[in-house]
Amino acid sequence: MASFSRNVFVMAILFSSLLNFTEARDHLVGGKTDSWKIPSSESDSLNRWAEKSRFLVRDSLVWKYDGAKDSVLEVSKRDYVTCNTSSPIAMHNDGNTKIVLEHSGAYYFISGVKGNCEQGQKLVVVTLSKRRYANAPVPSPVEFDGPAIAPTSNAVSLKASLVVAFGVFVGFWL
Ligand SMILES: *[C@@H]1O[C@H](CO)[C@@H](O)[C@H](O)[C@H]1NC(C)=O
Repeated sequence: MASFSRNVFVMAILFSSLLNFTEARDHLVGGKTDSWKIPSSESDSLNRWAEKSRFLVRDSLVWKYDGAKDSVLEVSKRDYVTCNTSSPIAMHNDGNTKIVLEHSGAYYFISGVKGNCEQGQKLVVVTLSKRRYANAPVPSPVEFDGPAIAPTSNAVSLKASLVVAFGVFVGFWL
């Protein structure tokens, strides 16, 4: 009986790490080169693009643009809302900018070109932690002043039950 419990435990750990294994991805902002520009319409906006993707901690965002003409500013939520370019958290103008999403939650980006943010050249990316990823709901459309989206903990408890069920199942055969 002791070895049975141990097997269950070992298998639960293995299965759990399997569920957590997700390759970090690079997301080309806008889905194609030269998407970092004033959108032609609301449906063409970068936030529409972002709503269709899932961003996980350790994933990266990649911008391809003409670094002589534009830049990517990572800003606070407040500066995002007001399109304030004067004190960014980080500024990039190398034309091929890669930013690793290090933490869960929202990241805010605006163009460093005067007036472009006001015309819609801005992006919010909501990053999910891997733990919550398994069954987390797709974040709803992000309003620029909307509440932060907190994925429910259902995913975590569902995963826990799966792990236990799987562990018990495998344990019987060992
Ligand atoms: C932009 O941000 C800077 C620094 O936080 C602040 O001093 C300035 O007043 C802001 N400008 C506007 C138009 O809000």
